[in-house]
Amino acid sequence: MRGRSTPRGPLTTAREQQKSTAMKTEWIDANRANWDERVPVHLAAKSYDLTALRAGQGRLHTIEEEELGNIAGLRVLHLQCHFGRDSLTLAQRGAEVVGLDFSAPAIDAARGLARELCLSRRARFVLANVYDARDALPEAAAFDLVYVTWGAIYWLPDIRRWAQIVAHYLRPGGTLYLAEGHPSALVFDDLARAADAKMPGWFAPYFQSEPMVIDDARDYANADVVLTHRRQYSWMHPLGSIISALRDAGLSLAWLHEHAAVPWPMFDCLVAGDDGMYRWPAQQWLPLAFSLRATSR
Ligand SMILES: C[S@@+](CC[C@H](N)C(=O)[O-])C[C@H]1O[C@@H](n2cnc3c(N)ncnc32)[C@H](O)[C@@H]1O
Repeated sequence: MRGRSTPRGPLTTAREQQKSTAMKTEWIDANRANWDERVPVHLAAKSYDLTALRAGQGRLHTIEEEELGNIAGLRVLHLQCHFGRDSLTLAQRGAEVVGLDFSAPAIDAARGLARELCLSRRARFVLANVYDARDALPEAAAFDLVYVTWGAIYWLPDIRRWAQIVAHYLRPGGTLYLAEGHPSALVFDDLARAADAKMPGWFAPYFQSEPMVIDDARDYANADVVLTHRRQYSWMHPLGSIISALRDAGLSLAWLHEHAAVPWPMFDCLVAGDDGMYRWPAQQWLPLAFSLRATSR
């Protein structure tokens, strides 16, 4: 899949081309249906509690709270904003925010919340696939900060195109803040766990470029839910590929942090802390998350 933007040679058969075109929409359609279904689940989930946001005091996760700094007065583009909880939190802190997501129920919910919280003038929401963002949001070099967190890039096939989108929207000197599940942890999954094992099993090779295509009825925010739209396409993006993609798109790395905690129960064996973060039960064998800041040159 990652190679699909490579020019095709004359030996490409009509059948191969058909397969490639079908694949292009298949992953979007499947992932969108999956995310559409999760929106009402998440709106009702404890881990997406909106009480603080409704009280005017939305909180981000511990990692972003420690790293993000003052955003008052900044123009922020929040890619893959889901139903806008974090976007609206950023708006409450004085940023002017545009959230973008390809899920219509997510964007509807985000707009509804913005109205409810009287934040519609500070927070606007755009319905689009990240890769089509330039058409939906024609505001090149208009943002001080592009904000991308937790469970975003994993759903995207081409990390280099993603980095170009980020670069497209940043003004010179503007920054990307990215916080994500660590790719070395994503090598594992509970789906590959042996029946008697506590730890997740080997799931996807770190350097796999083909999509991981799974049918998974679970949702990380509600253990009781059984999803109908189970098909999911996701991609491994090694840390080196992410950093190289950003550098090649014209961004300079300011810092990179690896974390022994992640804000969702990535594996059943992780232990929830009082800070709302999840950690390995004993030894911190591998990082669970990473975050970075990169500046547009
Ligand atoms: C785990 S959520 C991200 C949560 C986010 N950190 C937040 O602020 O709540 C992943 C989001 O990515 C969106 N998404 C996945 N693939 C996308 C794509 N190709 N284009 C736009 N949005 C996408 C989904 O609709 C979903 O809302």
